[in-house]
Amino acid sequence: MDFTELTNRIKYYIEVNLKDSRREHTYAVAWEAVKLAAHYGADGDKAKIAALFHDMFRNMSLNAMNMYVNHWGLPKKYLDNPNLAHGKLAAEMMKRTYEISDEDILNAVSYHTTGRAGMSKLEKIIFLADAIEPGRNYPTVEETRALAYTDIDRACISSLERTIEYIQGKGDYLDPDTIKARDDLKEKINL
Ligand SMILES: [Fe+2]
Ligand SMILES: [Fe+2]
Repeated sequence: MDFTELTNRIKYYIEVNLKDSRREHTYAVAWEAVKLAAHYGADGDKAKIAALFHDMFRNMSLNAMNMYVNHWGLPKKYLDNPNLAHGKLAAEMMKRTYEISDEDILNAVSYHTTGRAGMSKLEKIIFLADAIEPGRNYPTVEETRALAYTDIDRACISSLERTIEYIQGKGDYLDPDTIKARDDLKEKINL
């Protein structure tokens, strides 16, 4: 399927299914991701596709999400955990319904919440764009924004640290991929 047809289809989905705030966030992530891709010499079309799809399950009921997890045979840890499941479900839907087979795009969506060890450039771009798009507002966002266009690895570390603190602070389940993502990047740049 070509880029224009794909963007038209997902934009239609977004208009029909996402609430105003989620729709605005999604378009803002796409804008930021394309900008980051241009800055770091990554594929802007892939960045845009990944961004437009990344939160497609965000406004779905927990019941419906659980049904998809079961129906598609995804691991049980994604049941009753929309925060962890929404990226995995989006990647699965992209494959099954939208016939997207580009592994880098699928991984960028699948790991946009947790990160993982060995993230590709596109994965880092989507992870960061999600964290720093202009509508985002949390205590360390300026630090991450400042780093995003100068040192993509340090920017990811900054965002991952915040994610870890935030999730541990709430006492929620922290996916091991997030710790691995941070440790991997720290090792890479000798932090
Ligand atoms: Fe998300
Ligand atoms: Fe998002």
